[in-house]
Amino acid sequence: MAYQTLILEIDAPLAVLTFNRPDKLNALSEEMLREFSQALEDIRVNSAIRALILTGQGRAFIAGADVRQFLDFDSRTAHEFIRRGQEALKKLEALDIPVIAAVNGFALGGGCEVALACDLIYASENAKFGQPEINLGLMPGLGGSQRLARLVGKGLAKELCLTGRSVDAQEARAMGLAAQVFPAETLLAECRKIAHNLAGKSRFALAQIKRVINLGFELDLPSALELETQAFALCFGSDDPQEGVKAFLEKRAPQFKA
Ligand code: COA
Repeated sequence: MAYQTLILEIDAPLAVLTFNRPDKLNALSEEMLREFSQALEDIRVNSAIRALILTGQGRAFIAGADVRQFLDFDSRTAHEFIRRGQEALKKLEALDIPVIAAVNGFALGGGCEVALACDLIYASENAKFGQPEINLGLMPGLGGSQRLARLVGKGLAKELCLTGRSVDAQEARAMGLAAQVFPAETLLAECRKIAHNLAGKSRFALAQIKRVINLGFELDLPSALELETQAFALCFGSDDPQEGVKAFLEKRAPQFKA
């Protein structure tokens, strides 16, 4: 399907989704949000895709929600917009394949929040992360106050959300927000390498790991460990563990099927 505000390249086993409003630093408009949600559905139902990369065209990953639309908002329309945005990010988080945010520039407000709903965040040296909504008399609305606190801790999340200060790639890495930092010219190639590597692993085991870490984080430890026990056992419902162990013992690369 053709999109106006996104580019979706599917080259199985990888899909690369590029936010594409570079003249507005990929600010998240109503249209982009609608198309993003549709693209996630297209990706979800395509079983040939085993890893997804999100990135942005030009100088930004996403420089936030498109603030122009806020001028016409009242509480009802704001609620509607943010509810649809949160649903899209829940859909993103619930994909059963690994999702990489290749943060190529500004990831501010909604941009930081999209990255936070991904499984892995890799940043280019010129990336900037932040939740500057407070500078507009607002607050994060697409999970920033919640996913950020869960990832980097309450103290740092409060510092970023209350002051609106943005951080560069190295600081983002130091606080555990970005997993690694790459030169701008190689960011996408490095992310493709990582995604290809993930696509060669057991899809079923990857999905279980993602599910158990995401769900388990919200549970008490005994319940989370029970979830892990069940997921570990479920992995033996596919042939992948047999193949993985045999390949190791036979000193060859595994061919996972699940
Ligand atoms: N919503 C709507 N438009 C945005 C935008 C946003 N969140 N972020 C950038 N743009 C637009 C600018 O209005 C400008 O459009 P114009 O050329 O029609 O005037 C264009 O993108 C380029 O941005 P500009 O501000 O000129 O670039 P810059 O390099 O000087 O600054 C930023 C870059 C990211 C620091 C600055 O654009 C910014 O602070 N953006 C808003 C970030 C924000 O508050 N996000 C949270 C929103 S809730």
